Amino acid sequence: MNLLDGKLVSDRIKAEIAAEVKTKMLDAGKETPHLAAILVGEDPASQTYVASKEKDCMEVGFISSVYRYPANISQEKLLEAIRFLNNDNDIDGFIVQLPLPGHIDKNKIIECIDPAKDVDGFHPVNVGRMVLNIPSYIPATPFGIITLLEHYKIETEGKHCVVLGRSNIVGTPVSILLSRKSKTGNATVTLCNSHTADLQEITATADILIVAMGKKEFVTADMVKSGAVVIDVGIHRVPSQETKSGYTLTGDVKFNEVAKKCSYISPVPGGIGPMTRVSLLLNTLKAAKKEFIF
Ligand code: GUN
Repeated sequence: MNLLDGKLVSDRIKAEIAAEVKTKMLDAGKETPHLAAILVGEDPASQTYVASKEKDCMEVGFISSVYRYPANISQEKLLEAIRFLNNDNDIDGFIVQLPLPGHIDKNKIIECIDPAKDVDGFHPVNVGRMVLNIPSYIPATPFGIITLLEHYKIETEGKHCVVLGRSNIVGTPVSILLSRKSKTGNATVTLCNSHTADLQEITATADILIVAMGKKEFVTADMVKSGAVVIDVGIHRVPSQETKSGYTLTGDVKFNEVAKKCSYISPVPGGIGPMTRVSLLLNTLKAAKKEFIF
């Protein structure tokens, strides 16, 4: 078994980004890349994610700003905040941290973001471009998964990739990327959901198994083919008295038993999490360089 070391790969990419910012942008008199985040309410997980994004930006020399609003902000006020960022030339890209409070229509919010600044790649224009293989922002987790597979030279062409979970953020986009006609695609993809019948029979035929269903340690060794590549996107806190934080992290895969059976596996923590974070930085760099034409 080989570990797909997302921490190591993301640290290397971060060093490359930092070098590019310093030598090609700042020294050349260009503006510093600037990522903004809109955070609504006090959800602890969202606060942690946004704080991590600020830390990542600082590490690579980007500017970051966070716009915080109370959970009871009206939809119209939030749309106004987005229009403001759309028109702020100092900001290259921004994200609206999800989930949003129930009274806000998430789709209306996403559709209001200028696609050229949509570094999450959630706007229908970016999703449509991704489907059509037109250069665009790719959502951070799928982008991170593809980059990690590429780094370890894991061939996808002609392989059977099974994806568990069809979310807009992970499962659906990663299934599109893997099945696209491209160097990191050309796979045969089965996208499973909670209604899928005979799941174990399907997963056991996967050359590459991507698990993004949000169910703690759901995937067990009997569901995995010998020699498969397993990507674990899940992240769950498990209370523990042995750590200072009071918890440990685990994924959607029973790591200890599955690791023995597969050729490659991404750990939790240190696998897809850091690859997701660095992918947002890469998207922000592309935004600052105006890499895509809209
Ligand atoms: N909430 C969980 N993941 C994400 C993400 O990738 N982007 C945003 N905006 N919110 C999230």
